[in-house]
Amino acid sequence: MKWHKSLIFKILLCCFILTFCLVGSIFGVLYRYQQSILSEMDEKSSEILRGIQVQLTNLEDARTPSEILHNRLSDLKSRHGVDAIIVYDSEKQVVSSTDSDQMPVLEFGIPERAQVVVVEPTEGRKITAYFQTFPLMVGSNPVGYVRIALAIAPQTHLVKALQSKTLITLVLLFVGTIIVLCSLIFKILRPLQTMARTCQEISEGNLHELDIRPNASEVLVLEMKFNEMVEALKVKAKMEQKLAQTQRLCAIGNLAAGIAHEIGNPLNGIKLTVSHVKDLFSARELSDESFHKYTDTIIKEVNRLDGIVRDFLMFAKERELALQPYRIDKLLHETVRLIEKDASKRGIRIETDIQAISREALIDPQLLKSALLNIIINAMDASDGSGKIRLVSTDSCDTCRIEVIDQGVGIPAEILSRIFDPYFSTKSSGTGLGLSLTKMIIEKHDGDISIESTVGKGTKVIITLPMKGM
Ligand SMILES: Nc1ncnc2c1ncn2[C@@H]1O[C@H](COP(=O)(O)OP(=O)(O)O)[C@@H](O)[C@H]1O
Ligand SMILES: [Mg+2]
Repeated sequence: MKWHKSLIFKILLCCFILTFCLVGSIFGVLYRYQQSILSEMDEKSSEILRGIQVQLTNLEDARTPSEILHNRLSDLKSRHGVDAIIVYDSEKQVVSSTDSDQMPVLEFGIPERAQVVVVEPTEGRKITAYFQTFPLMVGSNPVGYVRIALAIAPQTHLVKALQSKTLITLVLLFVGTIIVLCSLIFKILRPLQTMARTCQEISEGNLHELDIRPNASEVLVLEMKFNEMVEALKVKAKMEQKLAQTQRLCAIGNLAAGIAHEIGNPLNGIKLTVSHVKDLFSARELSDESFHKYTDTIIKEVNRLDGIVRDFLMFAKERELALQPYRIDKLLHETVRLIEKDASKRGIRIETDIQAISREALIDPQLLKSALLNIIINAMDASDGSGKIRLVSTDSCDTCRIEVIDQGVGIPAEILSRIFDPYFSTKSSGTGLGLSLTKMIIEKHDGDISIESTVGKGTKVIITLPMKGM
C-alpha cells in the first residue's frame, strides 16, 4: 500500500491543515484588532492636525509656528486625549510642545513618519506609543512639522505582548497537539491492523476470534460483529465437516450393510455346522480335547464376526426405537447377567449398586441393553484381565443416572473427543462402532452420555435417561 494513500497519512494531513487554520485565524484576528486601533488613532491625529492648521492660519505671522500655539496645544491635547503634541519649525527645531511627563520630546525623524515605538519617559518605565509626524501647511506653504504621540492603550499593549507569547504558546501547542494526535491515531488505527492480520489468518483457515481490546465504541461494535462472523464461520465449518462425515458414513454404511447382509447367512451356516459336527463327534466319542478346543475357537471367532456384522447392520440401518414400558433397574440387572459369565472368565468382577425403581419408563430395552453392553465390554477391554467394574444407578424424579466405572487404562485427553466417532478405535480388532452406536441409542431416547477418564486410573461413563412414562 502506498504511504500517501494510508488512512494514517490522511488523518495526519487533516490535523496539520486544521492546526494551521487555527493558528492563522488567531493571527488574523489579532492583526485586524491592531489595525482598527491604529486607524482610530490616525483619525484622531488628523483632527488635531486640522485644528493646529486652522489656528496657524489665524495667526498674524503665519510663516513660523509661534509659541502662542503652546496654550492651544494643551487645549487640543486634553480635548482629544492624546499624550503629546510637538511642533517643529521648517528647520526641524522644536518650537512648541505640550508639557508631558508621559512622552519625551524625541528628536525629529526619530521615529519616522508613523511608527509604534517603545519610549522610556523615566528610568525603568516603558511606554509603547504611536508616533505620527505631519508637515504643517499654511495655505500651500510648508511652515514646519507637527508630531502627535499616542500611548497605546493597555489592551493594545496586551495584544502586542500576547502576539509574541502566543506565538511561542501556539508553536508549543501545535507540536503538542500533533504528538497527542499521532499517538491517538496510532491507538485508534491499531485495531484495524490487528483486524487485517486476523482476516488473513482466517482466510488461511485458522478460525479464531478477534481480541483487540477496543478503545472506541465503533471499534467495539466492529469487533463484536467480526467475532459473530467468526462464530458463524466456525459453525459452518463444523456443519460442513459433519456433512462430509455423514456423506462418507452413508456411503460406507450402505456398502457395509450390503456386505454384512451377505456375510450374515454363511456365518450362521458355519456356526450351525461346527456345532453340529461337535455334537456328532462327541456323540460318537471320536473327539479328543484338542478337537473341542479348536471347534470352540471356531465358534468363538464366528460369534465375534457375527457381532461385528450385527453392529454394522444396526449402524447402517439406524433402526427405529421399539418403545415399551420397562423398568430400568430390571434392564440393568438383566444386562449384568448377560455379561457376568464372560467377565468372570476374564477375571473381572462386576459390582452393582442399582437403585430400585418401581416406575416403568418408555424405552427400547433391546437397544438400551446393547448400548450398556458396549460400554461394559469396553470397560472389560480396558481392565486388562483384572479389577472390577461398578455399575451404579440413581433415580431422581424425572431422570435416571447410570454410571459404568472401571479401573482400567483410562483414555488419553487427546483422543477423548474422538471416541464417539464412528470407526474410531485404538484396538487391533475393534470396529470403532460400539460407542457411536451407544451414543446414537442414548440420544434416540433423549438421553445424554459423557465420559470422564484419567489415564492409569480408570474411566467413568455417565448416562442420563429421561424417565418418560406412558
Ligand atoms: N472404558 C474405556 N477405557 C479406555 N478406553 C476406552 C473405554 N471405552 C472406550 N475406549 C476407547 O474408545 C475407543 C472406541 O470405543 P468403541 O467405539 O467401543 O470401539 P472399539 O471398542 O471397537 O474400539 C476404544 O478403541 C478405546 O480406545
Ligand atoms: Mg467397543
